[in-house]
Amino acid sequence: MDKHTITNDYVIIKALDDGVNVIGLTRGQDTRFHHSEKLDKGEVMIAQFTDHTSAIKVRGKSQIISAYGEVFSDSK
Ligand code: TRP
Repeated sequence: MDKHTITNDYVIIKALDDGVNVIGLTRGQDTRFHHSEKLDKGEVMIAQFTDHTSAIKVRGKSQIISAYGEVFSDSK
């Protein structure tokens, strides 16, 4: 992917509990965490896949909306 290319793929994450973590994983050979954002109940994060971010991991209870539909993550 071009260095400055960002996709149009927005992902909406709404925390349904306190302490939901939205974790960005790096693009490329090396897949590692590069950012972790903590959301409290009711908070919303709107994120994109970028040249830095190839995957997003969500820990905790949340509603996730993307172009592929809606999914709910759960707590342990
Ligand atoms: N600096 C990161 C980037 O440009 C910010 C980011 C974008 C991010 N999407 C994310 C961080 C998803 C966590 C999760 O890639």
